[in-house]
Amino acid sequence: MKQKVVQYIAGYITELEQPEIEKLLEIPPKPEMGDFAFPCFRLAKVYRKAPQMIAEDLKNKMEPADFLSSVENAGGYLNFYVNKEQFAKQMILAASADNFGSSKEGEGKTICIDYSSPNVAKNFHVGHLRTTIIGNSIYKIFSKMGYHVERINHLGDWGTQFGKLIVAYKNWGNKEEIEKDGVAALMRIYVKFHAEAEKDDSLNDEARAWFVKMEQGDEEALSIWQWFKDISLIEYKRTYKLLGMEFDSYHGESFYRDKTGAVVDALKEKDLLVESEGAFIVPLDEYNMAPCLIMKKDGSSIYATRDLAAAIYRKNTYDFSKCIYVTGNEQKLHFAQFFKVLELMGNEWSKDMVHVPYGLVSLEGGKLSTRSGNIIYAEDILRESISKIREIIEEKNPNLPDKDEVAQIVGIGAILFNDLYNQRIKDVSFTWEKILNFDGETGPYVQYTYARAASVLRKAGVATVDEDIDYSVLTDEASMNLLKEISRYPVVVKDASEKLEPFIVSRFAMAVAQAFNKFYHDCQINVEDEAVKKARLKVVVLTKHVLKDALSLLGIGCPEQM
Ligand code: ARG
Repeated sequence: MKQKVVQYIAGYITELEQPEIEKLLEIPPKPEMGDFAFPCFRLAKVYRKAPQMIAEDLKNKMEPADFLSSVENAGGYLNFYVNKEQFAKQMILAASADNFGSSKEGEGKTICIDYSSPNVAKNFHVGHLRTTIIGNSIYKIFSKMGYHVERINHLGDWGTQFGKLIVAYKNWGNKEEIEKDGVAALMRIYVKFHAEAEKDDSLNDEARAWFVKMEQGDEEALSIWQWFKDISLIEYKRTYKLLGMEFDSYHGESFYRDKTGAVVDALKEKDLLVESEGAFIVPLDEYNMAPCLIMKKDGSSIYATRDLAAAIYRKNTYDFSKCIYVTGNEQKLHFAQFFKVLELMGNEWSKDMVHVPYGLVSLEGGKLSTRSGNIIYAEDILRESISKIREIIEEKNPNLPDKDEVAQIVGIGAILFNDLYNQRIKDVSFTWEKILNFDGETGPYVQYTYARAASVLRKAGVATVDEDIDYSVLTDEASMNLLKEISRYPVVVKDASEKLEPFIVSRFAMAVAQAFNKFYHDCQINVEDEAVKKARLKVVVLTKHVLKDALSLLGIGCPEQM
C-alpha cells in the first residue's frame, strides 16, 4: 500500500525521485491523521512557496484513485486516507507469507559475532549475561535477514591470571574442594593469592614464571590450566542450557597462543612496533589514543595481541562481511585501539569490525540470594526468576499443565525481555516486582498475550485461517491499528539489524501485544456471524505468529498456556 501511495505521489511531483518520496513518506502517529503523510517542507525551496500552499495545490490536482478514500492538507502535510478494506487485505496477505519479516539481504554472506566470552575460573556474572543475551539476539536478527552467522565464544582462557591461579592452587588449593565447588573454589584461592602477594611480592614473580611456562607449552602448567578450564565450562554450559543458547565455536584466547608470533612479526615488518621500557607497543597518539600494548617485557602476549590474531584468523576462516564484538562499554578503548592497529597493518577489512557496547546491569535494592557473598552469578538470577514465576503460577493457575516448563520459559523470558527493552548503552536496573509484572511492559505480559491468542484459537478449534475472508469486517479502528502494527515487522527487523539494537524488536512485540489486547477488548471474536468470526480469527492467527517470531528473535519462548 505504501508503494501505491509513493507511485501515486510521484505522478504529481516530478522534482523528486521515487525512493526520495518513499523516504519522506511518514506513518502518522494517530489514525485521525491518515494512514500515510507526505511532508511538503522539502519542496518549499524547489517551488519557492510555503509548504501549506504546496500541499493545497497538490491536493487540488490529485485525481481520485480506487485505493484512496481521501487526501487532506494539514499544515504542510498531505494526509492520505486509504481505502480501508483494500488496505486490510494487503496487510493480511503480506503478513500471511511464510517468510514474513525475513529478508534475502544477507544471502551468501557471513557475520562473525563474538559474545558472552566469560573469563575462565571466574564466575559468569550479570555482565556476561547481558553480552550473552544481546549477542544471541543479534545473531537471531541477522539470521532472519538471511546471513550465515558464526557464534563465537571467545573464552578468556589465557593470560597472566592463570599463572597466579597455578601458584595459588599449589600453595592453598584442594583438589576435592575444587571438584565440588567449581568456579567458586577457584575464585577463593585467587582472592587468597592477591592477599598473600600484597605481603610477598615474590609470589607475583612465580606467577609470571608459570604463565611463561604455559606459553612455552610446559606439560604440568597446561594440564592444571586445562583442568581449571574444564571445571569452568561445566558451569558456563549449565547457564547456556538454561537460556537455551548455543555457540558454533569455543575458540577462546588460548586458541591463538601459537598465532600471536605471526602478528608480532607482521607488526615489526610494517615498522609499527616500538620498544618502550622493554615492552613492545604500537603508538596511537596520532589518533588520540593511548598506545596498544602488544608484548610484555617477558615476551608474553596480551589480550590485544590475541584479539589481533583472532581477527585475522576469522577473516581467513570465515571471510566475514562483518565481525561483531559484544562487550561492556568499558572495553570501548580496547576495541578502538585494536581495530586501528588492524587498519595500520593494511587490512582494508578493518572497516568491517564493529564493537557493540552495552551499559551496566544492577538490581535495585540488591536483594538476591547468592551462593557466596556479594558475587552475583547469572545462573542464580535466572533460577530465582524461574522460581518466583513458579510461585505466581501456583497461586493464580494451579491447574496449569506443565507448570515447571512454563515457569522456566516465562522466568527466563522476563529477564531477557527486561535486558533488551532499552537501547543497549543504557544501564539496566530492575526489581523483581517490575520485571515479573504480568500487566507491565514486560516479557510475561507479551507471553501472556500470546497465550491469550492461542487460547482463542483453541476454543474456536482452528489453527490456521485462509485468506478468503470478508475484509470489510476489519476496517474498524482496533483491527486496523493491530494490522498496521503487525505490518511493520519486516521494517523492524531490518532496522534492528542495521542499528544492532534488539530493543527495536522488543518494543515492536510490546506494541503488537498492546494493540492485540485492545482488539480483543473491542472486537468480539467468537460471534454467530461466520464471516465476522473468520476475519477476526485470521487476525488472531497472524498476531500469534508474529509475536512468537519476534520473541524468538530476542531468544524468548512462548508457552501455549499460562
Ligand atoms: N573475556 C572478556 C571479558 O569478559 C570479553 C572478551 C570479548 N571478546 C574479545 N574478542 N575481546 O571481559
